[in-house]
Amino acid sequence: MTFDRSIKIAPSILSADFAAFGAECEAIEAQGADWVHVDVMDGHFVPNITFGPAMCAAIRPHIKGVMDVHLMISPVDAYIEAFAKAGADIISVHPEAGPHTHRTLQAIRAAGARPGLAINPGTGLADVEYMLDLVDLVCVMTVNPGFGGQKFIHSQVAKVAALRKMIGDRPVHIEIDGGVTPETAPMVAAAGADVLVAGSAVFKGGSVADPAPYGANIRAIRTAAHRAQVAA
Ligand code: DX5
Ligand code: ZN
Repeated sequence: MTFDRSIKIAPSILSADFAAFGAECEAIEAQGADWVHVDVMDGHFVPNITFGPAMCAAIRPHIKGVMDVHLMISPVDAYIEAFAKAGADIISVHPEAGPHTHRTLQAIRAAGARPGLAINPGTGLADVEYMLDLVDLVCVMTVNPGFGGQKFIHSQVAKVAALRKMIGDRPVHIEIDGGVTPETAPMVAAAGADVLVAGSAVFKGGSVADPAPYGANIRAIRTAAHRAQVAA
């Protein structure tokens, strides 16, 4: 994984067919996905339950590229090792999920994965400022975490621009998660984001049996974001 700020599309398998995760991962990569985004939810930190480390280990052989694991769980520390062993390349955690995020980020690196920080729409940048030297990625949530298919929260675009300035020359990705479409992607790309998570906007209209729409959806988001990034 070399660092660059080119636009990367990370489909969230939260919108995939839950009975066919392996085949879905292969289909989205074949259709041009850069990373595979895996949303882990516990029914406690967020009001929804998805899957855990065993599922991540099961899909790992079906992913050639980056497995980007977004932990929406509290507490988190006891599970870091398991997700790293399951083959996560990136493990992102929420500062809202516990009091010792600084330590958690170090534990992720020590376990052999790359640490990311994900922040809710109501959380300010003060919560990431003193951890920027510990992370490879900051994920700005543009919906309240828990469900796919929610509406993009526009107030977060200014946060992305401020974060971009705060990051400066550090090799830290800015990831956007929630409500990303060809219409919303240009705003965050212009503000400095380079990794775009998209669930419903990638999986809509397609299936494992008919994956071509995945490719068209990925290209539509990438093209719109790339144009805005170049123009900014
Ligand atoms: C929300 C998840 C997102 C979500 C994105 O809690 O973290 O990754 O699946 O889904 P869309 O793109 O449909 O908003
Ligand atoms: Zn996510």
